[in-house]
Amino acid sequence: MTARRGPGQAPPPEAQGAQEAQGAQPAQDGHPSWEALAEAVAGCTRCPELAAARTRVVPGRRPPSARLLVVGEAPGAQEDASGEPFVGRSGQLLDEVLAGAGLDRAQVAVTNTLKCRPPANRKPRRAETERCRGWLRTQIALLDPAVIVTLGGSAAEWFFGPGVRLGALRAEPLTWEGRRVVATYHPSAAIRWGPAGAPLAALREDLRTAAALVAAA
Ligand code: URA
Repeated sequence: MTARRGPGQAPPPEAQGAQEAQGAQPAQDGHPSWEALAEAVAGCTRCPELAAARTRVVPGRRPPSARLLVVGEAPGAQEDASGEPFVGRSGQLLDEVLAGAGLDRAQVAVTNTLKCRPPANRKPRRAETERCRGWLRTQIALLDPAVIVTLGGSAAEWFFGPGVRLGALRAEPLTWEGRRVVATYHPSAAIRWGPAGAPLAALREDLRTAAALVAAA
C-alpha cells in the first residue's frame, strides 16, 4: 500500500501529483498552536454548504500531553451543537472503550476528518474532505502524536486512500508518513452491530493495541 511508508520518507512524487489533481490543500502552515489553528478553522468557509448549515465548527480537543490522536469522520448533531468532538452516543462508547484499554479521554486528542457536520449526517464528499485536509494535516504536525487511531472507513481513507478495506488494514501494522496508525471500526458501527457484534470486539482489541503502542513509544 503506497501510504505505508517508512519513518521520515517523503510521499512519492506520483502521490503528490494525485493529491494536487484532487485539489488537496497543503498543510495550513503559519498556525503556531493547536488553539490558534482551532480559531482559524472556526472561520473556515471553504465548503459553502457545510458552512451555511453548521451551528458550530468542531476543530477537536487536544490535552497538552496527548500522545494518542483519535480521528473520526465528522461531527454529528450533538457535536455541531456543542462544538466538541464525540459527545453523543458514539462518544460515550468511545470513552468506555478507551477506559477499557486503560486510556482516559482527558489524555487523548480527538478530532475528525471534517470539522463541520454534513447536513443530515450524510457521508463527507470527497471534495469536502480534500478542502478540509490541510487542517488535520497541521493538527497532526502540531500534536506530533506517537500513535494515531482512525475510526471507520472515512478516516481510514483519509490516511490510506479511497477504497481501502478496514478488514485488510487491521491485519497489518500501518504507518503513515512515519507515524504508527491503528485503523479500526467507528463506534457507530459497534453500536449498530450490538454488544455481541464483531466491530465492538475489534474496536476494543484495536484500542488496546494502540495503548500498548503508546506505552512502548
Ligand atoms: N462521529 C464522528 O465521526 N465524530 C464525532 O465527533 C461524532 C460522531
